[in-house]
This record gives sequence, C-alpha cells and structure tokens, in this order.
Amino acid sequence: MSLTFDAIILGAGAAGLFCAAQAGQRGLKVLLIDHAERVGEKIRISGGGRCNFTNRDLDVRAPHKHFVGQNPQFCRSALSRYTPQDFIALLQKHGIPFHEKHKGQLFCDRSAEDIIQMLLAECAAGQVQRWQPCKVQKIGFVATESGGSYQLDTSQGVVQAPSLVVATGGLSIPKIGATDLGYRLAQQFNIPLVERHPGLVPLTFDGTDWAPYAQLSGLALPVSISTGSKKNLMAFDEDLLFTHRGLSGPAVLQISSYWQQGTPLSLNLAPTVDLPTALAQAKLRSRKLIANELATLVPSRLADAWASQEADWQRPIAEASDKALARLAERLSRWQLTPTGTEGYKKAEVTLGGIDTKALSQQTMEAKAQPGLYFVGEVVDITGWLGGYNFQWAWASAFACAQGL
Ligand code: FDA
Repeated sequence: MSLTFDAIILGAGAAGLFCAAQAGQRGLKVLLIDHAERVGEKIRISGGGRCNFTNRDLDVRAPHKHFVGQNPQFCRSALSRYTPQDFIALLQKHGIPFHEKHKGQLFCDRSAEDIIQMLLAECAAGQVQRWQPCKVQKIGFVATESGGSYQLDTSQGVVQAPSLVVATGGLSIPKIGATDLGYRLAQQFNIPLVERHPGLVPLTFDGTDWAPYAQLSGLALPVSISTGSKKNLMAFDEDLLFTHRGLSGPAVLQISSYWQQGTPLSLNLAPTVDLPTALAQAKLRSRKLIANELATLVPSRLADAWASQEADWQRPIAEASDKALARLAERLSRWQLTPTGTEGYKKAEVTLGGIDTKALSQQTMEAKAQPGLYFVGEVVDITGWLGGYNFQWAWASAFACAQGL
C-alpha cells in the first residue's frame, strides 16, 4: 500500500523546509523527506552559528552582481518575487532578533537555531509531514493522461505524488549529509548538468612553493584580490587569511568561485597605502632596516616575510637602491601566484554548477521536459557570493516552486 501526497520534497535543508512550509500553507498535502537525523544542518553551522540568512544589498535587477552560474539572469524572476525584505518580515513575525554586520549581511543575534525553529513552525502551520531519518531507495515515474506520478521506495514505505521537489543541496561538507542524489536524479530523467566544483573554498599551493609563506599562517589583513583577464576581471576588497597550506578568508572564498584551475591570482597586500611613495619617503628620513620601516605600513609578520625574500631588502632603507624599493613595492601590491587547487568539498561552503538552468522554468523551477519534477536551492547551477546570498536563493527558489506546485 502506498501513501499519496500532493507533493514530496526531498531534502529538509533551507530550500526544502521553506518550500514545504509554503506549499503546505497553500493547502497542499506535503511530505518532506531527509536522510539525516536532524533538519537544516547547514543552517545550523552557517555564519559561525549565527546564520547569515540574507543580504540587504541584493540587487534583484542585476543578479549577475552577486550570483555565479552559466546564466545568473535565471534567478531574477524568483529573487524579485521573494526578496530579502520578505524574509526579514518573516523573522519579525516570529520575533527573531537580528543585526547587520558588514556589506548588508544579516545575522541572527542569538543563534541559527532560531531560523531552524522558525522554519519548523512554518512547516507545522502547513501541516507538513516529515519522515526523518528516511532513506530513499528508488524513484520511478509513471506517466498518465493527467500528467504522471512519482513513486518513491523509502526506508519508511512507498509514497507517491504528482510533484517531486528536489532540494538535496550541493556536495559540500559530506559529513553532515551532503550527497549527489539531486544530480543522479537529474541524470535519471535526462536533465542536463553543469560540471560541479567546490566554491567559496580556501585555495592551496604546492608545498615547496608555499614553504616561505607557511610561517604567516593565522595572519589576517585587508587586501584587494583579482583573477581573470583584463576583459573579464573579477576583484574583491575583503580580508585575507594565511593558512598552513595556502590562503583563505572572505577575499579568497569569494574569488575561489571565479578562479579557473591553472590561472594566477593577483593580490594587493597593502591596498590603502601608496607603497612606492611611502618607501621612497622613508628612505630619505630613516636609518632603520627596510623590514622595520615596512612594518609601519603592513603587518610586521608580513613585512619580515617579504623583506627576507631578497638580499637587497635586508639592509637599512637609507642604503637601499630606488630600484630595489620599487621592486619591493611592486611585489607587495601586485603579488602574482597560481594556486594548485582548493581544499575541496570538505571545506567548501557551496557547490558551483549543478542542474542546468536551461532545463528549468524560471517561474516555477519545474523541469521543462519532465512534468512535476522541480529543483530548488543549491542543487541548481546558481551560486551566490559569500554574505547571505546563497540562503536568499534557497528561500526565493523554494517560494517560486511552492507557488507553482
Ligand atoms: P542544504 O544543504 O541546506 O539541504 C540539503 C538537504 O538535503 C540536507 O538536509 C541533506 O541532509 C538532504 N539530503 C542530501 N542528500 C540526501 C539524500 N540522498 N536523501 C535525503 N536527503 C538528502 N549561505 C549563506 O547564505 N549564508 C551563510 O552564512 C552560509 N554559511 C555557510 C557555512 C558553511 C560551513 C556552509 C557549508 C555553507 C554555508 N552557506 C551559507 C551556504 C548554505 O548553507 C547553502 O547554500 C544552503 O544551505 C543551500 O540550501 P539547500 O536547501 O539547497 O541545501
């Protein structure tokens, strides 16, 4: 005997919970299935435990500014129908306190758990049934004259529904439940995929090349970082963090979503200082070592590490040649380096690529060639910048889908 629902939603993360709540509140009989013990694990660990749930600076008329994918314009329809202000209003309705941190980023005052409890309360208001932990063993589709029906064999029994929403997220952080089920389902139903890569991820370097910089592990500083050709340059002004194996921090996480394997990054490690002028002036008035003068312009650990790179830079600044100082300024303000790779899905916040947006309706997120099959959230080839954009995409795509079910 199989149970019948109006819609089955796979994945009780940000997009799945929100879609289930919205569809349930529209009067649909909804079943939400997740294989994990707890719902919303990524919400729980997001934003350092405080969940950066949206971003006030989102410009819905220009999604390419904050979203990556083969066609960032695809998300415009959903983002304009469910905006950051709509989600803020929902938090206010639930009395959840929040604050703005940096560049429009909104965080919970207390904890990410507030968002999870809010989403569960919204699901309860829509009488959403939840099966969890529940393993999905097989998914089939039977076409009928009126459309068709999806049948799922699960560890809790057989269920069917005319609509199946795939909200199984990306591949990052497998230890808390990420799987490739969404991509496998796409393949099963001949829906095209864009190649997947870790995004918002620390970058790594060859061990030998990185050895001189490993001593800087833990150092954080504001930088300008860029990648790409002149015509296609992507640049961020954010904080950089040196690690034992490479570079991290918001600057690198952001640029990682644009970086192509084998290409260099360019970093200005002193973006607010006119280094050539500052060093030339110091030469005229100081007898200190170059490293000590440099330490008045950039963090002293960085000054020491850079000055130790050339014999010409290990002397009193008054004795340095103009050429040597110009070279030092250049090396700090146009540091070129080519990562060998990334820290991978273990450390990535998101997955780039996924369900090809060409195959989906931007109004409802339904697969154009497979009636009743929907994809929402991170499983789709839409990836946001760091700063709450990924959750806003999860809420907005889930909302668009729930209206179309
Ligand atoms: P999500 O990953 O949330 O949910 C997918 C669900 O599907 C999970 O519950 C999973 O268990 C379930 N599932 C997977 N495979 C399954 C299977 N085979 N069977 C059944 N269920 C299955 N974004 C942001 O905007 N602000 C932030 O502060 C952060 N911070 C952050 C920190 C860290 C450490 C990470 C890893 C990520 C972030 N993000 C973020 C990104 C954000 O968490 C992410 O984009 C959204 O959670 C995506 O929502 P989804 O619902 O699409 O997937």
